[in-house]
Amino acid sequence: MKRRLVVSSGAGISAESGMMTYRDAGGLWDNYPVMEVASDEGFARNPALIHEFYSNMRRKMTDGVHPNAAHRGLVELEKDFDVRIITQNVDDLHERAGSSHVLHLHGELMKVRSMVRPDRIYQLPSTELTTPDATDPLTTTLATRDPYGDPVRPHIVFFGEAVPNFEPAARLVEEADVLVVIGTSLVVYPAAGLIQYARRGCEVYYIDPNPAAVPSWVHVIAEKATTGVAHLIETLRK
Ligand code: APR
Repeated sequence: MKRRLVVSSGAGISAESGMMTYRDAGGLWDNYPVMEVASDEGFARNPALIHEFYSNMRRKMTDGVHPNAAHRGLVELEKDFDVRIITQNVDDLHERAGSSHVLHLHGELMKVRSMVRPDRIYQLPSTELTTPDATDPLTTTLATRDPYGDPVRPHIVFFGEAVPNFEPAARLVEEADVLVVIGTSLVVYPAAGLIQYARRGCEVYYIDPNPAAVPSWVHVIAEKATTGVAHLIETLRK
């Protein structure tokens, strides 16, 4: 019976793959007004802008952004542990690296869902969707329709919306023997609160080159994700 290792990752784990983080200098929120492109009011006000923002991010993801050694290191740890990944990231780099269990807290960039039936979720590129003015298969617009003739929206949790996967994520952390927090500024709740669900006796590690303040019982590895995960594997295999 392998011990349970749970990961809680943020934008920092994808930084070395070429994805921008949100709050580092020059990050996404320096370049886009977050409440315009990632909030429920922003979507109500200007849905076309939000379709464009996420369509651009999708095209970037497929234009040469690949999993890095940190994502692959977490797959390597599946030899030693029953690994569960919880991620705030909307990219699919954990999946593409080969992680077996990935739970997205803030949604998934490569998916859209019906505005009428939220349970109807479509993986892009999708032959089920029609976008009359599309320039490429990853673009969605206000004119995109699903097979039922309904409009779609990015399958993303906007600021102001509920985080339906938080409860299952908290249950995973409660069952963890080892919790590894990687590449997150720990400023956005409820995700940032996951660390508090670690039970007594759970070993907690935090890998981040510019770590946020954390309780003294957290083992901080103040390194970038690729080297930090390599060092973590060495430590866990001792
Ligand atoms: N390796 C590891 N961590 C890194 C690296 C790297 N190479 N480069 C930067 N970081 C760290 C930064 O030090 C910072 O702590 O990644 C973190 C990025 O923080 P944010 O940009 O705030 O990203 P994140 O914490 O994931 O944001 C949480 O905010 O806008 C919302 O929904 C969005 O999921 C996102 C949430």
